[in-house]
Amino acid sequence: MNFAQQRVSIEEAEKILFDLYHIQGTASCLPGYVDFNFRIKIANEEGYILKISRVGEHKKYLAYQQELLEFIEYSNEKITAPKAIKDKNNNLVSEITDRFKKKRCVRLLSWISGKVWSAVNPQLEDLRYSIGTQSGLLTKVLQDFKHPEAHYNFDWDIAQSLWTKKHLHLFDAPKKEILIHHQTRFETYQPTYTTLRKSIVHNDPNDNNIIVTNSIVQPKAKAAIDYGDAMHTQTINDLAILCAYGIMKHHDPLEASLAFIKGYHSSFPLLENELAHLYNAIAMRLVIIVTRAALSKIEEPENEYLWISEKPAWEVLKKWFEISEDFAHYSFRNACSFSAHPNQEKFKKWAVTKEYSLTDLFPSIDKKEIALLDLSVSSSWIGHQVDFNNIDLFQFKIDQLQKEHPTKIISGGYLEPRPLYTSNTYDKIGNNGPESRTIHLGIDFWLPTNTPVHALFDGEIEIAVDDHGNKEYGGLVIVKHIKNDITFYTLYGHLNPESVLQYQKGDKILKRQKIGVLGNQKVNGNWAPHLHFQLMLSLLEYTTDFPGVAYANEIEIWKSICVDPNILFGIKNLHTKKNTSSNELISYRKQHLGKGLSLQYQEPIKMVRGEGVYLLDELGRKYLDTVNNVAHVGHEHPEVVKAGQQQMAILNTNSRYLHENINLLAKELLDTLPPELSVVHFVNSGSEANELAIRMAKTVTGKQDVIASEVGYHGNTNICVDISSYKFDGKGGKGAPKHTHIFPIPDAFRGKYRGENTEQKYVEEVQKCIDNIHHKGGGVCSIIVEPIISCGGQIELPKGFLSKAYKAVRKVGGLCISDEVQVGCGRLGESFWGFQLHDVLPDIITIGKPIGNGHPLAAVVCTEEVAHSFANGMEFFNTFGGNPVSCAIGTAVLQTVKKGKLQENALKVGAYLKEQLINLAKEFPIIGDVRGQGLFLGIELVDVQKNPLPIQTDYLINRMKDHGILMSSDGPDHNVLKIKPPMIFSKENAKEVLFYLQKTLNEDFMSS
Ligand SMILES: Cc1ncc(COP(=O)(O)O)c(C=O)c1O
Repeated sequence: MNFAQQRVSIEEAEKILFDLYHIQGTASCLPGYVDFNFRIKIANEEGYILKISRVGEHKKYLAYQQELLEFIEYSNEKITAPKAIKDKNNNLVSEITDRFKKKRCVRLLSWISGKVWSAVNPQLEDLRYSIGTQSGLLTKVLQDFKHPEAHYNFDWDIAQSLWTKKHLHLFDAPKKEILIHHQTRFETYQPTYTTLRKSIVHNDPNDNNIIVTNSIVQPKAKAAIDYGDAMHTQTINDLAILCAYGIMKHHDPLEASLAFIKGYHSSFPLLENELAHLYNAIAMRLVIIVTRAALSKIEEPENEYLWISEKPAWEVLKKWFEISEDFAHYSFRNACSFSAHPNQEKFKKWAVTKEYSLTDLFPSIDKKEIALLDLSVSSSWIGHQVDFNNIDLFQFKIDQLQKEHPTKIISGGYLEPRPLYTSNTYDKIGNNGPESRTIHLGIDFWLPTNTPVHALFDGEIEIAVDDHGNKEYGGLVIVKHIKNDITFYTLYGHLNPESVLQYQKGDKILKRQKIGVLGNQKVNGNWAPHLHFQLMLSLLEYTTDFPGVAYANEIEIWKSICVDPNILFGIKNLHTKKNTSSNELISYRKQHLGKGLSLQYQEPIKMVRGEGVYLLDELGRKYLDTVNNVAHVGHEHPEVVKAGQQQMAILNTNSRYLHENINLLAKELLDTLPPELSVVHFVNSGSEANELAIRMAKTVTGKQDVIASEVGYHGNTNICVDISSYKFDGKGGKGAPKHTHIFPIPDAFRGKYRGENTEQKYVEEVQKCIDNIHHKGGGVCSIIVEPIISCGGQIELPKGFLSKAYKAVRKVGGLCISDEVQVGCGRLGESFWGFQLHDVLPDIITIGKPIGNGHPLAAVVCTEEVAHSFANGMEFFNTFGGNPVSCAIGTAVLQTVKKGKLQENALKVGAYLKEQLINLAKEFPIIGDVRGQGLFLGIELVDVQKNPLPIQTDYLINRMKDHGILMSSDGPDHNVLKIKPPMIFSKENAKEVLFYLQKTLNEDFMSS
């Protein structure tokens, strides 16, 4: 009888339930691999799962499962599992006769509420850890459970997995290679594998058999269900199975497995010999899955449940095959708090007694001390990336340093996070977005080309190659040593290839024998000549080279494999700089810095370097910056940095002396503006610019009242806060002061007037302000508006609004101020300045953030008439405004925008990004509106009633950060994502943002 014929209908199931258990409930079908399963719902109760077996199922075996559940129920541990419910005759397993007069077994279990682990998105480390912990606990509880039925032959038992060898013919050659590899390894390991401790385990903790809590934020494991595969086998197999399913769909399966292992170990301590078999056991479960799936497709083509894991299993098996078995083993050990490399402690004990000096390594150099060179991400010695890549300059700096320390060897670098490895070969996509190899694993000794390098120990050549093609080392020699029963290796990189190629693998090397001589800059990756010296306890599977730099998240494993070479020399100052921890920085800030300062992100980041569209943290992790319109032409743009550095080196003083720079910057700026805006005042911040603009307007008009937009922000000084509804209407604010008059934010999406053609309505609101001012006996001094209202949530002004509003204000003698602090300098793409989008000519514009590219520089530009009547005899003096350094920087910024055609780039990339975001909005209704111009965009998140969703916005921002993308929110309800990246932001950068936005928008939280 086939599977379909044995099917049980819902009505039959409900009847069986009532007949056997006296329970009246509503049944619905659930997927099942062996049984026919029904979810039984009963009002106001958790309900049950009714399991009706196929024909021929052994009752004894089913009873064993029920007894196992009873055992768990009565254990002393706090563990949840389905409860086995007895029928009206007190049986754990009942029997019925089906319509074909065949015997079928029936069981009833309590229902565990929650959701299956496979339904959770994203599957984060916390959840994996909790699933591991729960599974470990189950293993622990089952240690004392013994049962004769637990011993049987089973295809899904990893211990019995070699049956898969018979079916290799089902696969093509590349797949066969992978299967054979793992089967062969498993066979080889049999002598030790079979001695591992055994117990009854669940044996199928896959992602559909673990129930997790329903919470959207940080769901936790609740219980394992479906004990149908439980059996007596090697205990480690249960964890291997958990991992085999848990690592599917992750970019980096090894990294994904570690949280399960840590969690499992925390409740059921694993043994070292078990960890040695885990990599292969995981592989063999995957081998079983793919082989079983291939067979099931032939045997039961209608039962798709049988091969749901096939595709992800193959994907992960291919990745798993590529992972170094040893590295995985060391990673597992590290996850369980053993030293990652088993020999680490033994080696250290031996090595620490050695008293080598640098003259043993470099006998021709009579120097025993070192001068530490800091090449870490935050090192100011490195300087700008451009300087570092200038080999002549780099060599010069090394030579200078050497002159300062004539008796010392310049050295350093062990475990140093370096920002210097720019080639793509150093990048990969990890489980949290792009990752770069930044952690340096050896010590560098900076010495002249041709310096001879000698061996510290006897040994034999393992590798001697010209690795120049690989760009890591040039001439590379790795020597194998065996001392005190420990095998280890010394690595000598950046040698002259000719000096090492005489060696063959196996050649004997004697202590103090010359290994080679240092190569020139070319074989040093175009750096100054140096020896990269590294100590390794394992070569992993490398045969022609070995990594000299590692990924930051693997540092604990690498530092155990590549022990600190200074253990041999014991030089006191040869260590990598320790940075202040984030916690220390936070606690100092909290105590001693302004209490109103805020920090971005739930877990703040410590940035130490900027580079174009990226910010780098102290481990060299690169974050794509979509927020920073201050770094207008890119973080630390070389031309801007150079302009500032050069001028700073010769003169910085105030504007009371003549200097070309102030005139040059004024010219560069006026060149971008209509001729009517012809007089510039330089200041130091956007706030100061607006402060001055309002002062000018008051002086010129003799009036006091200012009209501004609801949720507008214009700065942090007294006057600026007084005209910033964002502040005085926000937290801690006290509402509009007497002389400030606010019109409703002209937001077509969620504003007072919505949709098309609202400009007249909002102009009428401005007119109401004017009337109100007059009504109260005041006079209109000015209107101040941003061309796109940034803090208000990237609100685009309705077409025609600004020109009509300006007209109304001018009619009563007021001045018009355009706040260009956020949007200016080409950002909007269509025009260089925001007001130009609206066909208006302001009397005053204020410029801030972008013009200094991070340096405090701002400006007020006004008409000749305004400037003239402002100059009423009172001197305008500003200590820093217009100083030669700031002006040199500002000029470089404007020239870079023009030369680099960055306005055009903003137009092109911005249009692409906006179009794609609009497409994304069609897929995700949570995106209510996409707006903005050029590289100044906003994405508003709302529910179906257009209510703002600030919590989802915050979640999105934090998840984007997890993937290495910086975003921020704004708007009165904090539900608008703003995108305003450096103007060099490329289409590729935009694609990356879109990719991770889409990924995150799919996560459970976003639809909660
Ligand atoms: C529109 C606008 N104007 C003025 C300012 C004040 O500039 P600053 O912070 O340089 O004083 C800001 C700052 O965010 C701003 O967004």
